[in-house]
Amino acid sequence: MQFINKTAPIGIFDSGIGGLTVAKRIISMLPNENIVYFGDTARVPYGSKSNSTVIEYAIQDAQFLINKNVKLIIVACNTASSVALDSLKRKYNIPIIGMIEPGASLAVKKSKNKRVGVIGTNSTINNKAYSEQIKTLDAEISIIEKACPLFVPIAEEGWLNHEATRLIAIEYLQEFIDAEIDTLILGCTHYPLLAETIQNIMGEKVTLIDSGYAASLQVENYLEGRGVRNDSHQVGTHQFYVSDLPNKFKTIAERFLGSKVNHIEKIDVEILIKN
Ligand code: DGL
Repeated sequence: MQFINKTAPIGIFDSGIGGLTVAKRIISMLPNENIVYFGDTARVPYGSKSNSTVIEYAIQDAQFLINKNVKLIIVACNTASSVALDSLKRKYNIPIIGMIEPGASLAVKKSKNKRVGVIGTNSTINNKAYSEQIKTLDAEISIIEKACPLFVPIAEEGWLNHEATRLIAIEYLQEFIDAEIDTLILGCTHYPLLAETIQNIMGEKVTLIDSGYAASLQVENYLEGRGVRNDSHQVGTHQFYVSDLPNKFKTIAERFLGSKVNHIEKIDVEILIKN
């Protein structure tokens, strides 16, 4: 069994800022863990790119984190989890946790009427990542999937409770209401930011699944089960790396995490490619 250094950081990567929704969950669930976050802000979005490009980028992102001696990698990006998780697991001998299996498992557990909806980027939906995973867990569940690409720029713009957001969300979500789903997977890093609007439209009876939350629980279980939680009594350190626009990232991250970001560094894409 591979030796894992308890005090080594947890690595998290995403195509950009969206993975902060996952980082926030990890920070609140595992406050003593050190974290290294990489956001590929120079090459975002991943959700509209080809599978081969996303796999190439995901390998570079993971390699960057491995070079930082992380003990586990969280693929916070749903698109990268959909497309690249198998390639990453084949290539690296380190625990790697993506978003799809945890989100799908939680949805299967929560759904009572066996009608589950999935929303995500074009890539996540076209690759049927969630629906195939759900089918392996429970073949009786009927699944409706829809790409909601406008939710990403809306969330980045901070229009979380804007009237335009509500109208776009109604357009996207009406078919899920018509299909009487009781569970909706938020299959993209950005969608938890719009959860309030989505919940209002879907109604209180529909359970929203935040895959980042589900994945964080798995990370906690994994570390606990292997006895490799950081048992230091100090609050963990959080280092952030991005491939472009570090100041913009810092402002958004501080607002979103509600704490100062002391370590933020820009990494040239050429360095990622050479690694
Ligand atoms: N992080 C991506 C995801 O969760 C959304 C943004 C992008 O398209 O890169 O699928």
